[in-house]
Amino acid sequence: MFPIRILTTIEEMEQVEDLQRLVWPGSDAEILPGHILLTFAHHGGLVLGAYDGLKLVGLLVGFPGLYQLPDGPQPKHCSHELGVHPDYQNSGIGFALKRAQWQMLRQQGLSLATWTYDPLLSRNAHLNIARLGAVCNTYLPNYYGEMRDGLNSGLESDRFQVDWWLNTRRVSRRLGRRPRPGLGFDHYASADTPALYRVTHSPGAFPRPPEHFSAPQDSLVLAEIPSDFPKLKRGDFPLARAWRSFSRLVFSECFAQGYLVTDFIYESDPTPRSYYILAHGESTLSDL
Ligand SMILES: CC(C)(COP(=O)(O)OP(=O)(O)OC[C@H]1O[C@@H](n2cnc3c(N)ncnc32)[C@H](O)[C@@H]1OP(=O)(O)O)[C@@H](O)C(=O)NCCC(=O)NCCS
Repeated sequence: MFPIRILTTIEEMEQVEDLQRLVWPGSDAEILPGHILLTFAHHGGLVLGAYDGLKLVGLLVGFPGLYQLPDGPQPKHCSHELGVHPDYQNSGIGFALKRAQWQMLRQQGLSLATWTYDPLLSRNAHLNIARLGAVCNTYLPNYYGEMRDGLNSGLESDRFQVDWWLNTRRVSRRLGRRPRPGLGFDHYASADTPALYRVTHSPGAFPRPPEHFSAPQDSLVLAEIPSDFPKLKRGDFPLARAWRSFSRLVFSECFAQGYLVTDFIYESDPTPRSYYILAHGESTLSDL
């Protein structure tokens, strides 16, 4: 529907520069310049574009990297940017770009790609964890310091670093020809998966985190986040800060105890609700 192309020329990189300005408006300091993109594209990285006719409407940028194993460093792909033109979001372009990236990285013989995203963004969590099958046990507080673009300014830039194990059954079942249907709240409820804390939902108000939470005891737990954090941030900035502090505490503590984010539930009816699934040890419903 929106063909995906491998981009290699400086003219194409200039289109990518322009699209970045639309997706992350406000500060040119956060824009990757064409000469860097071209260098990635010509030296083992990937710059992919999704097109509507001649118009670039989606971009994906990554470069080669390393991760450490006990017997030494191993190659991986570091995926750095995924962005879709604001008029084309939620049309499947983000997923299609990641799927093309998956196919190309496997051809490069790689087994791991990593990237970061803001764990309070429900749409990004749904795409990265539920649709693509990435997992996470790394919390990076204020990782990029103060960011100046319109999507990120004002809040500390906490990030999940996700691991995308390219050759696993988990990932190929989600990206193969007949993808497995996602699990919903009912699947986890019928497995008696407890919520780690209670979020306050009042009519006409943004969801509020509790003051405290207790360390998890169960092998599988649900951790709720707001379904529309960008709107919450625009409407009640102190509450957005409270969510940042609370979720930092929750995920740092859970990861320190050995939990792994393995799935994400987003249900839009009757009122939108979003939950991470955290699993300890082998306990996961994600292979159902
Ligand atoms: C995040 C982004 C790359 C996703 O690309 P996209 O083309 O809009 O995403 P897709 O259409 O492939 O997938 C979006 C999915 O999220 C779902 N979704 C929409 N709103 C949601 C929400 N509030 N919570 C959870 N899921 C949501 C959509 O229903 C869709 O689900 P489906 O694939 O099961 O149908 C794009 O929206 C974007 O550019 N956002 C701004 C920049 C950004 O955050 N970039 C990523 C970090 S660098």
